Amino acid sequence: MKKIIQMTEEFVRRKLGNESSGHDWYHIHRVRQLALKIAEQEGADVFICELAALLHDIADEKIAGSEEAGLAEVSDWLRTIKLEAQVADAVLHIIQNMSYKGGHAGEALSLEGRVVQDADRLDAIGAIGIGRTFAYSGAKGQLMFDPEIPVREEMTKEEYRNGKSTAINHFYEKLLKLKSGINTPYANKLAEERHQFMEDFLQRFSLEWEGKK
Ligand code: ADP
Ligand code: NI
Repeated sequence: MKKIIQMTEEFVRRKLGNESSGHDWYHIHRVRQLALKIAEQEGADVFICELAALLHDIADEKIAGSEEAGLAEVSDWLRTIKLEAQVADAVLHIIQNMSYKGGHAGEALSLEGRVVQDADRLDAIGAIGIGRTFAYSGAKGQLMFDPEIPVREEMTKEEYRNGKSTAINHFYEKLLKLKSGINTPYANKLAEERHQFMEDFLQRFSLEWEGKK
């Protein structure tokens, strides 16, 4: 099992190499660490969680071109490493259903799926979430804040992708909502703290923006 994890890690590192859309290798690494920690606390299958965490962004359309192509790549990889069919199916099901990208609402997740989804969401909030959002905004040429660009809670995928927003708006459009979607009690504890950190940051940002601090 160690060998399988090691080979999969190398595969993912190769694939993500210079990825700059917020899904670089270190995002995967953090999600893996968090998933392992949550899995332990929640009694989930650690091996399935680790594999799914490692592979969870390979099928992202920003990386694979399309979700279908990405899922095919993941499933090819699972065949290459000769995973037991049951484990391979469990991992694929997680990757296919943990994100709402692709327009479908997704099937109900297994416990392992809920764990990996929580880990991925945790990495989008807190100090790391703040950092990723500003990095992403910069890469897309968005301002960190623009009082003339309104916060829009409902944006189409196209509008979202075209970056008609700002880093600060992204907190209201997405990041502050992530806490309420957390599945497991342990992740929820971590999310509370990370959420509060973002609230504090936003408050301070606004004070400094207005020259009050
Ligand atoms: P996920 O893989 O969690 O679904 P995304 O692919 O949407 O996340 O984004 C990756 C990272 O980029 C996240 O940390 C997110 O906060 C940031 N991000 C995504 N969309 C925007 C945006 N419109 N403005 C600023 N940051 C964004
Ligand atoms: Ni991710």
